[in-house]
Amino acid sequence: MTSTHCGKEAELARPIIIDTDPGIDDAVALLLAFASPEFDIKGVTVVSGNVALEHTVRNTLQVCELADRRDVPVYPGCTRPMLRDPVYGLFSGQGGLGKTELPPPTMTVRETHAVDYLVAALTDAARAGEPVTLCTLGPLTNVALALAHTPRIRDGIESIVMMAGAFRELGNRSISAEFNILVDPHAAHIVFEAGIPIVMLPLDVTHQAMATPARIDAIRAVGNPVTDVVADILTFWDRKDSKRFGGRGGPLHDPLVLDYLLAPEHYGSDEARVWVEHSSELLMGHTVADFWGKTGEKPNAKVVLKVDADAFFELLGRRLAKYARG
Ligand code: BDR
Ligand code: CA
Repeated sequence: MTSTHCGKEAELARPIIIDTDPGIDDAVALLLAFASPEFDIKGVTVVSGNVALEHTVRNTLQVCELADRRDVPVYPGCTRPMLRDPVYGLFSGQGGLGKTELPPPTMTVRETHAVDYLVAALTDAARAGEPVTLCTLGPLTNVALALAHTPRIRDGIESIVMMAGAFRELGNRSISAEFNILVDPHAAHIVFEAGIPIVMLPLDVTHQAMATPARIDAIRAVGNPVTDVVADILTFWDRKDSKRFGGRGGPLHDPLVLDYLLAPEHYGSDEARVWVEHSSELLMGHTVADFWGKTGEKPNAKVVLKVDADAFFELLGRRLAKYARG
């Protein structure tokens, strides 16, 4: 794979910014994005989430280098949620990439803070009439602060496609909240009330995309340095929670955001008005949806509820196979 996409391909590509907190599934999502010429990746903004910011930034740089994408600008963002104390993930290991040790990164981050970058890039996008799709894979702190700083950046956002929330599937880091919302419910509240088109992929859909041992074996069988790493980190990711998931594997949340943009036909969704609970300690971060128009409020989100998981894993495998053999 070449390290940059150029010419006609880049002209037709969808401009995106990825906000992320790697994290094992974030790493796979980045590798899928980097292998997809349909995306013109303007920047990657990093946030504290699965692990502390120093680790999420380092992991992002290591993943860029693994993919030979040193050209991607990486902007470090917020070190903590807006109001609440940080809550870290449980399933990505202490450093965020399981037991896998990637070489220390040699590329460096941009000096601009992620929030300043988002404000500048989205202001430019609005001025140029070329709105950007924001792909958010972590807590929404960077995005909410950028919106609070300069609300008119919403005109530079085509839509926010986010891994976030839980409805019928309940929570994964508290009883009823999904991790990305739980970590910064106040930021999520700001984003959901900003009047920006939102597509959300909650646990209801991501729990259908299980990285089973057979699917991991198929990725490993591709046999390039990227698929070797992906197979290793996904093996660590195995939740072994058959009681909840009906079999082995871990739900591969974040890559679905990119797959949704690449192949919307893999998905089924419903429109709903969605709110984020941000005051009750018991229900902190719980997402509430009015699917049936009971409140008379207009929908503010497309909620993705179904995925053809085999089609997703097949596309993921094909894209990862584009990375050069060692
Ligand atoms: C989300 O939380 C994180 O642990 C994952 O990276 C994903 O973004 C799933 O709840
Ligand atoms: Ca994530």
